[in-house]
Amino acid sequence: MRAAPVPEIMLEPAFNPNSSPNQDAGTSRDALGLGSAAAKGLDVRHGTILTLEDINVSFDGFKALNHLNLYIGVGELRCIIGPNGAGKTTMMDVITGKTRPDSGIAYFGETLDLTQMSEVEIAQSGIGRKFQKPTVFEALSVFENLELALKTDKSVWASLRAKLSGEQRDRIDAVLATIRLDNSRNRPAGLLSHGQKQFLEIGMLLVQEPQLLLLDEPVAGMTDAETEFTAELFKSLARKHSLMVVEHDMGFVGSIADHVTVLHQGSVLAEGSLAEVQADERVIEVYLGR
Ligand SMILES: Nc1ncnc2c1ncn2[C@@H]1O[C@H](COP(=O)(O)OP(=O)(O)O)[C@@H](O)[C@H]1O
Ligand SMILES: [Mg+2]
Repeated sequence: MRAAPVPEIMLEPAFNPNSSPNQDAGTSRDALGLGSAAAKGLDVRHGTILTLEDINVSFDGFKALNHLNLYIGVGELRCIIGPNGAGKTTMMDVITGKTRPDSGIAYFGETLDLTQMSEVEIAQSGIGRKFQKPTVFEALSVFENLELALKTDKSVWASLRAKLSGEQRDRIDAVLATIRLDNSRNRPAGLLSHGQKQFLEIGMLLVQEPQLLLLDEPVAGMTDAETEFTAELFKSLARKHSLMVVEHDMGFVGSIADHVTVLHQGSVLAEGSLAEVQADERVIEVYLGR
């Protein structure tokens, strides 16, 4: 990758946890010029991309996660459901390093101990997270937003001046097609619909080629057509990526999930196909039957 002669940081991208260089991983994105390069070396020899074992998180004595055990297979599309306060978001916070568990084991692949990594290191190792509210740069074009997400090592100003390599341009083009925004590439992101902004934000994760994607209530506020496209998109991303999707919309869950985990009071209450968990008396009691 060409090192452009640019001044030091002018503006920090607000959305971006990766703005400081990774000191410890040894294979920073910048050194390799490829977002996924470090992640491609991820050790998944046993077929498990994420391992959470006996995770406990307390907030002022309240157990948000309570001896939580959860495993995600490589290429799996897992849906997480459960009542409000079940600990779904807290679980994602633990995986991304935002919240440290009081105890328990959290591994990405076989060797990366998430409890010992910073949020930046976790993101750079190949875990991408999408929050509910889109955080795109409204004044910048769709293409520029993807460009910024790709060049996470630089400030906004430096990123927009640094020339894209052919490979990077191809990657952005491929993502634009995947999220169906190729015809809006030059539009300011602020002019997109709510759903399109969500797709752009998913695109901003995809240009970094994460191996594991965490998506918290991705179809909230979407139209039916946007929800349907999201289902198609997620199904097309599975296998190449592993996905963990928290969602309340059972129609959506039913259209994408082969495997569903029900969280309740910080633990796994049930796991199986959607039909299996929907038939589970305990699940009906605490969640579906309300
Ligand atoms: N930072 C925090 N401080 C105190 N309590 C929290 C914090 N984050 C979450 N909680 C509590 O932990 C429980 C689980 O929350 P959360 O993970 O957001 O659930 P879910 O996403 O399943 O609705 C809730 O009772 C919530 O109020
Ligand atoms: Mg939540």
